[in-house]
Amino acid sequence: MTKFDSLKFPKDFWWGAAASAPQTEGESLAYGKAPNTWDKWFEMAPEVFSEIGPGRTSNVYNLYREDVQRMQDINLNSYRTSISWSRLLPDGETLNQEAVAYYRDYFQTMRDKGIEPIINLFHFDMPWWMMELGGWINPIITDKFAFYARTCVEQFGDLVKYWVTFNEPIVHVECSYIYEFHYPAIRDFKKAIESGYYTILAHSKAIKAMKEVSSDIKVGTILNLTPIYSKSDSKEDLQAARYAQLLNVDSFLEPMVKGTFPKDLVLLLEENDLLLNVNEDDLTIIRENTAEFLGVNYYQPKRVQAPEGDVNRPALMPEDLYAPYIWKERRINPYRGWEIYPEALYDISKLVQNEYGNIPWFVSENGIGVADEARFQDENGMIQDDYRIEFIQEHLTMLHKGMEEGSNCFGYHLWTFVDCWSWLNGYNNRYGLYSIDLKTQKRTLKKSGQWFSEFIQKQSQ
Ligand code: BG6
Repeated sequence: MTKFDSLKFPKDFWWGAAASAPQTEGESLAYGKAPNTWDKWFEMAPEVFSEIGPGRTSNVYNLYREDVQRMQDINLNSYRTSISWSRLLPDGETLNQEAVAYYRDYFQTMRDKGIEPIINLFHFDMPWWMMELGGWINPIITDKFAFYARTCVEQFGDLVKYWVTFNEPIVHVECSYIYEFHYPAIRDFKKAIESGYYTILAHSKAIKAMKEVSSDIKVGTILNLTPIYSKSDSKEDLQAARYAQLLNVDSFLEPMVKGTFPKDLVLLLEENDLLLNVNEDDLTIIRENTAEFLGVNYYQPKRVQAPEGDVNRPALMPEDLYAPYIWKERRINPYRGWEIYPEALYDISKLVQNEYGNIPWFVSENGIGVADEARFQDENGMIQDDYRIEFIQEHLTMLHKGMEEGSNCFGYHLWTFVDCWSWLNGYNNRYGLYSIDLKTQKRTLKKSGQWFSEFIQKQSQ
């Protein structure tokens, strides 16, 4: 027996996978769904995308029953996906009954098959009508979002106990207003800060609204807690790491979990003329409505060093505060360009345990995207993805170590279940436990799926 085989996780541990509505549903302009920013952006600028747009995903809208059966076939006990805001409320106010019927049956099917649904409200998919009003930089969105959140619990609260407000909120903030990866793809630090603040306020208003409808539900949020590692112990590098920590980790973690804003972050924004005028009532809402559990998406660490040049001038962009640094011992997934560093999962488990009151948390995404996986198919069409098995084992080993030391982790979800569409990479990198043939939509279990299934089976014995 290898060391990994002897690891024992708790009996009721969540073993599952994650995905999102916009990356799996398909039928993106059908059955009453209004366009979101991805649908519109693809229509306006298809060259931004890697050939395939958001309309052509894995057709879960029509195939969910078979997919849920597949979840049960491989022993998953939980699954996270999202509701599409622009499908459920196409104009922000009117319920789309076809969407209600679809989601109810999807969630009921999960329940019937023993799969706990964990349902997220926002996975980078802004309705187009809201984007035309300014998206996350228009404060009106906080009430629109709370209305959507309330509606979700009214319609599905009897089927879904675990809700999450956001998936990786920093991503829609930085990709839309700093790094130009998401629509409207502009560079404006002040707008990034505004959109981050209104996202946090929307999270709290949503929790308040959802809990008013049902006190039986649990509401959490999902953050990508990329741990920060400094190049050296020099004063400058440590300062850069501190800035990176404040902007990338504490910025969302502290307000969403503790209801307060990091004092040093407020100071940093003030010094750089980036602080917003906020009102006391909103701060009270943020303070009083925090996440009850946390999902952590982990793929890669963030390594930083002091930037070159004059660090005392007002910071215009995060890269004026910290610069990336490539660790000479790093292992890398060459297809995605992301460092592989399982030890960070242990560090995350300690961060949550020691600095965030040991709030109950789960690994809500972890995985490895590999290009051209068809080359690893055996004669039966099964992809022999031993690298994925190794990746999962290494990460679970580190997670287990943190849990042994008392970190309150209750689950592990792989990204993803069936190979799915990715925002700008289409289907280039595949992450699934099942592969997909895009022409026929046929799903085939990979070796990692087979392995994961047997592993879960053994854990439940
Ligand atoms: C996560 C996102 O950060 O990474 C997913 O929540 C995404 O939506 C996943 O698909 C993998 O990233 P990518 O860019 O390779 O699809």
